[in-house]
Amino acid sequence: MLCLKTASNPEWIEVAVRHPIEILVDHAHCEKKAAAFAMSMINRYPEHTRLVRDMIDLAREEMDHFELVVNELDKRGAVLTYDGGNAYANALQRHIRTHEPVRMLDALIVGAFIEARSCERFSLLAEHAPTDEMRELYRSLLASEAGHYRAYTDIAREYFPVADVKARLEEFGAIEAEIVKGLANRPTMHG
Ligand SMILES: [Fe+2]
Ligand SMILES: [Fe+2]
Repeated sequence: MLCLKTASNPEWIEVAVRHPIEILVDHAHCEKKAAAFAMSMINRYPEHTRLVRDMIDLAREEMDHFELVVNELDKRGAVLTYDGGNAYANALQRHIRTHEPVRMLDALIVGAFIEARSCERFSLLAEHAPTDEMRELYRSLLASEAGHYRAYTDIAREYFPVADVKARLEEFGAIEAEIVKGLANRPTMHG
């Protein structure tokens, strides 16, 4: 799917469907962090107007998703608990080079991969979640996460040569696949 080089371990979805509330809590935090990441890109690259405009849209949409998931928790009598962090995203971010301009390219590509993997996991949940209502929730989010993947890669191609973007997508594809193979199949969106 999209740029992904490996599918999630089938054991993950088995764990995820047995722990729908834990998945919703972690999912809510993922949406919040996706919005925060978009805001951090605006902070870091304010002079890149195309990036700023796209990140405004993205942050707004991610906050809408955050609200949607908080509402789902509320409906089930559950509350948001402390954000336990995201080992998957942290592992990917460690591969962002520290000097510009390539730091910006890498950050955009990491954003794209997190969206693509989320999209894959939503498609699994859209098929296997325990209730019709939950399957519908994940189905409704699929298209917009695929759109976010495209937004990050389109911004990258706006500011960097297409060949450089393609090469770095390939490299991060291999890195991301290795990270995913090492995940522990916990009841989190990227566990
Ligand atoms: Fe989202
Ligand atoms: Fe997203």
